Amino acid sequence: AWTPGNIISDAIETVRERVGSAKVLLGLSGGVDSSVVAALLHKAIGDRLICVFVDHGLLRHREGDQVMKIFAEHLGVKVIRVDAQARFFDALKGVSDPEAKRKIIGRLFVEVFDEEAAKLDGIEFLAQGTIYPDVIESAGSKTQKAQVIKSHHNVGGLPERMKLKLVEPLRELFKDEVRKIGLELGLPREMVYRHPFPGPGLGVRILGEVSPQAAETLRLADHIFIEELRRAGWYERTSQAFAVFLPVRSVGVTGDGRRFEPVIALRAVQTVDFMTAQWAQLPFELLDVCSRRIVNEVPGVSRVVYDISGKPPATIEWE
Ligand code: XMP
Repeated sequence: AWTPGNIISDAIETVRERVGSAKVLLGLSGGVDSSVVAALLHKAIGDRLICVFVDHGLLRHREGDQVMKIFAEHLGVKVIRVDAQARFFDALKGVSDPEAKRKIIGRLFVEVFDEEAAKLDGIEFLAQGTIYPDVIESAGSKTQKAQVIKSHHNVGGLPERMKLKLVEPLRELFKDEVRKIGLELGLPREMVYRHPFPGPGLGVRILGEVSPQAAETLRLADHIFIEELRRAGWYERTSQAFAVFLPVRSVGVTGDGRRFEPVIALRAVQTVDFMTAQWAQLPFELLDVCSRRIVNEVPGVSRVVYDISGKPPATIEWE
C-alpha cells in the first residue's frame, strides 16, 4: 500500500543497494525536492551523503541560515555552505537582460558547485531531486527557459566529467507524495509546503541590473509580505507570492522632503499547474498592512503596488 512510511523504506533499501559503501554528493537548494532527497539519503547512508549548498546572494531572507539550521544542526546532515555572493554579484554587474541574467546565474552555479565537488574525495554518485513531472517535462518539447531551468538544476555536465552515477530516489513521485514523505522524514511543515522559488532566485525579481543593495531591499520587503500572508492564513491559500523590485524612481514625501525611490510590487497567484494563474484576491486590510510595514521598515522604499494581472498574458514572474 502507498504510505509515506512504505515509500521511505523501499527507497532506503533501493538506495543502499545501489550505492553500497560509496559516497554521494547532493546540491541542496533549500527547495522541497532537494531537501527531501537530503533527508532520505541521510537516513539511508548517513555521513556518506555530502551536501553542497551554494549561497548566490539571491536567496530569500535568512534562507541560508535556515537550511543550515534544519539540515546541519537539527538533522546532522553533512552540509558544505559556499558563500559565493560576491562572485555572483560581480558577474551580474551591468547585465539587465533577463535571459542573460538566467544564463550567468545558471553557469556560475554549476561552476561553483563543480569546484566544491572537485575538492571532495571518493564521490561516486550524484543525487538529484528529480520528480516524476520533471521526467515528463524533459521528454517533451523545451522552451529556452525550461532548458536553462533544467541545466541549472542538473548541475551541467558534472556527472559525465566526474564520472558520477545518478541517484534519483524521487523519480517516480508526484509533488504531493514528495511532501508527505518530507513530513514523515521530520522536515518542518513550513519547509515542505513552501512556495516554489526559481533557481535564479531574486535575480529575476530585481528587474534589470542586479545589485547587492537591491537584493537586500527586496529580501526585507518580501519577508514582510510572506510574514503577513502567513499571519493572515493566506500563505497556503496562494500558490506563489513574492515581492518584486522595480528600478523606477517614484516620488515619496517624508519629513525631510521629497525623495525619488524604487518601487516594490507584490505578486500573489493561485494556480494548479503554473501554466495559467489568477492573481490572488487578497483582502485589502492585508495589503494595507503589507504596504505600511514595507514603507516604514524597509529603507529606500516609498511606494508599494499590487499586481492584478492574470497568466496569460502576464507570466507569474516579472522577468
Ligand atoms: P512564469 O513566470 O513563466 O513562471 O509564469 C512559471 C513558474 O516557473 C518558475 N520560474 C522559474 N523557475 N528557473 C526556475 O527554476 C527560472 O528561470 C524560472 N522562471 C520562472 C516561476 O517561479 C513559476 O513558479
